[in-house]
Amino acid sequence: MKISINQASNFEGQQVTIGCWLLQKRGSGKIQFLQLRDGTGFMQGVVVKASDEALFETAKGLTQETSMYVSGTIKSDDRSQFGYEMEVDDIEIIHASEGYPITPKAHGPEFLMDNRHLWLRSKKQHAVMNIRNQIIKSTHDFFFENGYKKIDPPILTSSSPEGTTELFHTKYFDEDAYLSQSGQLYAEAAAMAHGKVFSFGPTFRAEKSKTRRHLIEFWMIEPEMAFYKHEDSLEVQEQYVEYLVQQVLANCSLDLGILERDTAVLEKIRAPFPRITYTDAVELLKEKGFDDIEWGEDFGAPHETEIANHFDKPVFITNYPKAIKSFYMEENPEDPRTVLCADMIAPEGYGEIIGGSERIHDYATLEQKIIDSGLNLDAYQWYLDLRRYGSVPHSGFGLGLERTVAWLSGVQHVRETSPFPRLLNRLYP
Ligand code: 4AD
Ligand code: MG
Repeated sequence: MKISINQASNFEGQQVTIGCWLLQKRGSGKIQFLQLRDGTGFMQGVVVKASDEALFETAKGLTQETSMYVSGTIKSDDRSQFGYEMEVDDIEIIHASEGYPITPKAHGPEFLMDNRHLWLRSKKQHAVMNIRNQIIKSTHDFFFENGYKKIDPPILTSSSPEGTTELFHTKYFDEDAYLSQSGQLYAEAAAMAHGKVFSFGPTFRAEKSKTRRHLIEFWMIEPEMAFYKHEDSLEVQEQYVEYLVQQVLANCSLDLGILERDTAVLEKIRAPFPRITYTDAVELLKEKGFDDIEWGEDFGAPHETEIANHFDKPVFITNYPKAIKSFYMEENPEDPRTVLCADMIAPEGYGEIIGGSERIHDYATLEQKIIDSGLNLDAYQWYLDLRRYGSVPHSGFGLGLERTVAWLSGVQHVRETSPFPRLLNRLYP
């Protein structure tokens, strides 16, 4: 019977066949240990010379990434990371792979990125994608179970929520169009129709940043809730992030093990999360010897990391100055120099994973902000309509999928968290 490796525990003692690839092999003149992978998992196949000499010769000649059908009996094995191995009695080669470029020796990042289409097969990259998948699934579960509807915003847009300098421009027949930087403005319209919504889609930033946190194309989850004030939104954010972390811990233990992720630090991620105002954060940074920061300036990665290091959970930095945040954010009534917003900063130096705010719901205030920001008022008439017809307070946020995957997987660079990352200077493969 044909089975997949992740079903092996149901077939102990039985004769089965798996379609698989050879990851690696080791052995001696008497026994060969084949490390097999089929996408669902990894298993060791054992071939003993004394039982079948021809089969042993076939096993010894196998090259890395050769595809094949391997048949044999499933045995439980405590020494195996996966609990089971196979006593092999037949190997049918489908395609003998020659000269696979990614060998077990160490390779540099540029080489690995050039071979990203193959690198995805490696154990660690496979584990990172499993964690990404768990986060995607848990996101849908969390929002559907909490009464949200998924609304898909367009990718080709006529407006720019997050500033005009980082837009990808394209032609839309005779008009100008931009690749979406954020689905937020459309999610706001949908929230006025459906109450609680979320979008989950690709977003694009023509950012000339070459850091370990920046992708040109990344996926964002953007919930938007009618009648939610800023504080209500923060509660959704901490519950959502706690849920993601706990689901990854519960369902991805093998992957976290392969990645050697310290899970004790993740266990502690339980709501509520601490909050610190931007103004207090500036004071804290000054006390810690950062002379390069003045009230009114945006934080860089070192500042965020310093603040995050004071907590063992993600921290909300709230109420940033107006001038460094987007046009649509509601003024803070307690300090009109600032807005009702928060960035959620992940622990351990992984940086900002969420940006969110309460949205301006007064027509005249929003119109003035659009004008002051130098945006084209005509392109925002539909957005202003949301304030013309039954405007209500509402709030929302955006979580960056890849940065969240990097944090939970413990990988240092977001390039490993996207199957085919688009980076400054990289569009291949
Ligand atoms: O803070 P940002 O720019 O917020 C927005 O786009 C809002 N419109 C979201 C909303 O309120 N609906 O982006 C949100 C998150 C960041 O916190 C970060 O996790 C991620 O998106 N992000 C990036 N991830 C990878 N590469 C980049 N270049 C990113 N830019 C933002
Ligand atoms: Mg942000």
